[in-house]
Amino acid sequence: MTSPSRAMAVESLTPFEARLEYQDLAAEIAAHDLRYHQQDAPVITDADYDQLRLRLLAIEAGFPELRSAVALSVGAKPSEKFAKVRHSVPMLSLANVFSGEEAGEFVDRIRRFLDLEPDAPVVLTAEPKIDGLSCSLRYEGGRLVVAATRGDGEEGEDVTRNVRTIKDIPQVLTGSVPAILEVRGEIYMRKDDFAALNQRQEAEGKPVFANPRNAAAGSLRQLDSAITAARPLRFFAYAWGEISEPMPSASQFGMVEAFARYGFATNPLMKRCGTLPDLLAHYSSIETQRASLPYDIDGVVYKVDDLSLQRRLGFIARSPRWATAHKFPAEQATTTVTAIDIQVGRTGVLTPVARLEPVTVGGVVVSNATLHNEEEIARKDVRIGDRVVVQRAGDVIPQVVSVVPEHRKPDSVAYEFPKTCPVCGSHAVREADATGKEDKARRCTGGLVCPAQAVERLRHFVARDAMDIEGFGERQIEAFYQDGLVMRPQDIFTLEARDAASLKKLKNREGWGETSARNLFAAIVARRNVALHRFIFALGIRHVGETTAKVLARHFGTIEALRDTAMAANEPDSEARKALTAIDGIGPVMAEALVDFFTEQHNSEAVADLLTHVTLQPPEIVSSQSPVSGKTVVFTGALERMSRDEAKAMAERLGAKVSGSVSKKTDLVVAGPGAGSKLADARKHGVEVISEDDWFTLVG
Ligand code: IVH
Repeated sequence: MTSPSRAMAVESLTPFEARLEYQDLAAEIAAHDLRYHQQDAPVITDADYDQLRLRLLAIEAGFPELRSAVALSVGAKPSEKFAKVRHSVPMLSLANVFSGEEAGEFVDRIRRFLDLEPDAPVVLTAEPKIDGLSCSLRYEGGRLVVAATRGDGEEGEDVTRNVRTIKDIPQVLTGSVPAILEVRGEIYMRKDDFAALNQRQEAEGKPVFANPRNAAAGSLRQLDSAITAARPLRFFAYAWGEISEPMPSASQFGMVEAFARYGFATNPLMKRCGTLPDLLAHYSSIETQRASLPYDIDGVVYKVDDLSLQRRLGFIARSPRWATAHKFPAEQATTTVTAIDIQVGRTGVLTPVARLEPVTVGGVVVSNATLHNEEEIARKDVRIGDRVVVQRAGDVIPQVVSVVPEHRKPDSVAYEFPKTCPVCGSHAVREADATGKEDKARRCTGGLVCPAQAVERLRHFVARDAMDIEGFGERQIEAFYQDGLVMRPQDIFTLEARDAASLKKLKNREGWGETSARNLFAAIVARRNVALHRFIFALGIRHVGETTAKVLARHFGTIEALRDTAMAANEPDSEARKALTAIDGIGPVMAEALVDFFTEQHNSEAVADLLTHVTLQPPEIVSSQSPVSGKTVVFTGALERMSRDEAKAMAERLGAKVSGSVSKKTDLVVAGPGAGSKLADARKHGVEVISEDDWFTLVG
């Protein structure tokens, strides 16, 4: 499913929306990668794929804390890592209430459902809602046999090996226990353990976790259980799944007491409450203790104590009618904005950050809060010196909610968002989409020179689809950049000469040797001669993906011709602008991006410098005589006489455009065995379909 936020500028996403979309995007990209690389059956065009990746990077830049979260959740797909376990009793989730009033309605609903008098007593337990991940532990004959994550509630992942390393979880239960017993509860990491773990991660140059919950999840989902063993995970037992008769107790409270006797850790703040005021008093007491508790909680869970009543109440959809979570409100405080700083993300997005007089919000000292983007500052009219309300909800970045107008100083002035990048001085622009609507994000256009974007640009520059310099992985780039060896793409080409003159040779650096250093230099030399389209793509111009780079290379033939046209197209009404947008495949947004890139003097200089090191190969002359020249072709199904890449290259050499999906703009579909939905699409749009053999006949 595509997240609803996809059309929004990254800057206006809430952290929650960003997380949803980011996870979505990562999964979508992974699926496309699989189709492209392993099944040879892409379903989208390269340009569309590039857009997905760019969006992903933009979100990463705006919400850097997501990087580790998704690397863990998506990089580690269940099927690749852990066996599946079907839960004998589904693992449910909880409905939420957000106020005392709603908690009262929850109790009233229970009474109505059970046909009780409006003032009949209903005993409920109240306990902290632990912010970790739930886990089901199956014991047979008192011995732990399987441990599974919640997964989708029906089916989870088998994490038995890892769970066996958690000290809070007994391998063998104490006393007389039901023959079959599934104990459920929360795996979590304490706040102090989390801080220490992150310190270790940082010291070892490894990614840090955004919060204790992510750290717990990431630690549990390790293929190597030795890693889990080294992570301080803990467990609270609070629920159960399958259980053989006789039950140890007829109440919720008694069940959890039984778990404690069996050897589990249970939460000491669980309490039986006979009335709504009791319940709410305990809620307040837990809320007051929240900051000083050694673990993160995000609310209080209420459960009907009497198990026979629980059974009668049953479930609505995926949650029990007999339980609910009373969530804590987002925490707020008032403080003063001392400055507004602009941060530049890895993809060049300028993000305003309010520097605040430090203030405690829900037990955490906050001294920075995001202001999202230019429009948000204007909408809230946040000014330096203002008193503002800041908010923290869960683990998200603190936000400025509103200004307290009564406290505004008479001499305050509206904040003016900078039009240049504070890091590199290049101009920063807000792009307009095809309808002329401005993007919320303002971006630095000095991609090739901006230190904030340098590592990302270098990574892109050397990537396989770009300059394709082998031996230059992300780690090497990071290290070279940190040490000042390679700060800009052009530095790559002087590396060998500088190395020869240097005392600290590459081959003596950690992780390098004689052979790997020689190989890297050879790989760099090999790319001193490179196809024009690769070079254009490698520059990392916004919106210019691989496909567009090929179109531009074919159209202009030289980088100078492209640069001159882009510079002359600075005026929106110019002939050059018209010529640019007249190129098939180049829309107004791309044209604008080309203009922005080449009119930025820093970039032009960097390109000129690069051209002193590399020789660009003009694109092969494509035959306009070919019968497929100018046509849009789609290959689908299994090809027998050529690989998918070969087919694509051949078609492009003959002047055709290759697309991954069939639309009314498609001229020709070349179908092999196993072609599926694209055939139907071709029929729908009346597109000609031919076999692979027909293709060879057609193109000779
Ligand atoms: S009871 C059938 N109790 O909250 C009820 N859940 O939104 C099962 N959680 O997936 C849940 N602390 O991961 C329960 N004291 C607690 C909890 C708790 C945290 C989590 C649990 C569950 C989620 C439901």
